[in-house]
Amino acid sequence: MDGAAKVLGTAQYVDDLSAKDGELHGATVRSAVARGRIRGIAFDEAFDWSGVTRVTAKDVPENIVQLIVDDQPVLADTVIHHVYEPIVLLACEDRAKLADACAAVTIDVEPLDAVLDIASSLAAKTVVSGEDNVQTRYLITKGAADSEDSETKIDEALAACEVVVTGEYSSHHQEQLYIETQGMLAWWDEAGVHVTGSLQCPYYVHKGFKRAFGLEGDAIHVTQAVTGGGFGGKEEYPTIIALHAALLAKKSGRHVRMIYDRTEDIQATTKRHPAACEISTGCDRDGRLRVLKMRAVFDAGAYVTLTPVVLSRGVLHAGGAYSWQDARIEGLSVTTNTPPNGAFRGFGAPQTIWAIERHLDRVARELGRDPAELKRQNLLVEGDTTATGQVLRGSVGGEECADKAFASSDYFAKRAAGPVIEGRKARGIGASLFMHGGGFTGSGERMLKGRVAVDLQAGGRLLIRSGSTDIGQGTETVFSQIAADAAGIDVSQVSFAVPSTTTVPDSGPTVASRTVMVVGAIVEQAAAAVAAQVRAAGRDDESWVDAADRLLAEHGELSVLKQYEPPSWVDWDETTYKGDAYPVYAWSCDIAEVEVDLDTFEVRVLQFWTAADVGKAINPVMCRGQLEGGALQAIGWALSEDIVWRDGHILNPRMTNYIVPTALDAPRFETILVECPYPHGPGGGAKGIGELPMDGGAPAVAAAIEHATGVSMDHLPLLPERLLLASMAGTTSQGAI
Ligand code: MOS
Repeated sequence: MDGAAKVLGTAQYVDDLSAKDGELHGATVRSAVARGRIRGIAFDEAFDWSGVTRVTAKDVPENIVQLIVDDQPVLADTVIHHVYEPIVLLACEDRAKLADACAAVTIDVEPLDAVLDIASSLAAKTVVSGEDNVQTRYLITKGAADSEDSETKIDEALAACEVVVTGEYSSHHQEQLYIETQGMLAWWDEAGVHVTGSLQCPYYVHKGFKRAFGLEGDAIHVTQAVTGGGFGGKEEYPTIIALHAALLAKKSGRHVRMIYDRTEDIQATTKRHPAACEISTGCDRDGRLRVLKMRAVFDAGAYVTLTPVVLSRGVLHAGGAYSWQDARIEGLSVTTNTPPNGAFRGFGAPQTIWAIERHLDRVARELGRDPAELKRQNLLVEGDTTATGQVLRGSVGGEECADKAFASSDYFAKRAAGPVIEGRKARGIGASLFMHGGGFTGSGERMLKGRVAVDLQAGGRLLIRSGSTDIGQGTETVFSQIAADAAGIDVSQVSFAVPSTTTVPDSGPTVASRTVMVVGAIVEQAAAAVAAQVRAAGRDDESWVDAADRLLAEHGELSVLKQYEPPSWVDWDETTYKGDAYPVYAWSCDIAEVEVDLDTFEVRVLQFWTAADVGKAINPVMCRGQLEGGALQAIGWALSEDIVWRDGHILNPRMTNYIVPTALDAPRFETILVECPYPHGPGGGAKGIGELPMDGGAPAVAAAIEHATGVSMDHLPLLPERLLLASMAGTTSQGAI
């Protein structure tokens, strides 16, 4: 539905919006040190400051970015916690003068010791917060570990196993690299403050304004502009740039537009959390998995932001798609003096799934088994319990996905034949199996109370009013299809309102693979309720349009507001981390076939098979698009994307040196949709699949590299130089090296 405007160039992104009385451009002066105390801010007296608006922390009514913990200031005031932390905001009509003005600001800083990675944060107990750098800790226990003394008990359970395998796995930052960088336009008038721009979650920004400016909700008008990608990167960060633009707009009395260039966007905004995982497992000699002990440490960056929720999803997916009799999964997040990490498609799960998948590849090696066969043997099936004790009630498509992906790729025959070596190129194949929970974790949806309205309009049209945004993933199209089907009308009769906090209800954020599965379900209910009223009012032989128009004429307006109710059986204990972590999971099997250059260690993914249990594909083309796009993003994380750090600075903040895959790097995709319907999903059983395809690509590629070369990689990214070093350290199986 959004395609034509984008193809024709008429879609209005934040950079295209016009400000009728002209505008100022905004810019940010940031910290150059990772940690320090601000001694003073000097504005060069020789510079002509006329026409330049200046904002510092003193101009912020309440200097807090509203999220989970009140630790992050809108502008740094006394202490700096990371490089690129915003300190001063400037606005000016003339962009050239604005750049000169930024150069005329000097921040006088007393540098302090900084911790820049997980290991040093864990070791340096007192550097950051005064006691300990651990922010959040979760513990999941099952079976033998379900005891006060869980660590001793799990160690005893491990010791009783026939085969015990231990390993360490880590993963790195990843930049969302949406094509449109972050941007906001802000202004004030008698109605209050207006911000419009590139964002996922209008009501998150709204909350941020309530807090920082102390405004009533109806004085805050947050509107989404057409948005060029988010991937989680526009979940929490837009609040900050919106507050910055609004501070400048308030002080100047003008419209202020702030749009980051690519370098500033890569440097200052959130990224995927790096993670370090230690795993010990115990199993029988025949490959039956029994005991899991795991510790995952996530690097939060300088502030808490959304890390507790990311870590939560990380630990809840840490057992993978497998059945464990006894489990102890511990998750920690630690502070470092790096820009805060945040939401990124997968939201913690890709990190722990990388670890558990690579670990099971190691277990298979120890047992002399094919890794995919070992994983298939231990897959969760209906009636099994997860690590949180959740009984899987249905819509469990893991086995069907595995079998279809194995068959389509001819996996077992290719594995058995060994790597294909032609000249200095070796080809291999590898697999991953995984699941991803749809919607907010645990009681999240019950607390969120997401709402959607559907209005009847002239001519029998329906208007969907929802706070769920289309950020390129297809919300507008899929919601329109759901509403049209529920009402029994054509999709061309449905429109989707621009998400604005002034005109749409709060549907909850556009995150967590919840848009279609959770919010789509209320779109369906609301549209069906409107249609039922039209049809009940319709006289014999009266058309839909006539009945609708007559009903509108009689009542003036007709609108139905629905609120989401999770399935009544969802039972989650937030303190013990036991119960139904998610109402349902999407399941998937990825198979990657790679070619490794044995001289340069460059890796090409030649073909990529995905079989995914999506519940029900409401729009099969776009569903495949999500699965393939996510898989390509996972391949980029595995093979080429790498943030290079020095002293807390990013050395490669450009698209020329932060390398995401392009169409030329994309493998041939063979994507198989498996449909095990979820009874509470819309359209006949849809489940959330936005994040799922991010989870399995990296371990499938690593397994394929191992099959091709014998080089087994436990630490991302799988860059050529790292593969070379690993090959020199030794190989593990009968690959080409
Ligand atoms: Mo998402 S990564 O839950 O915005």
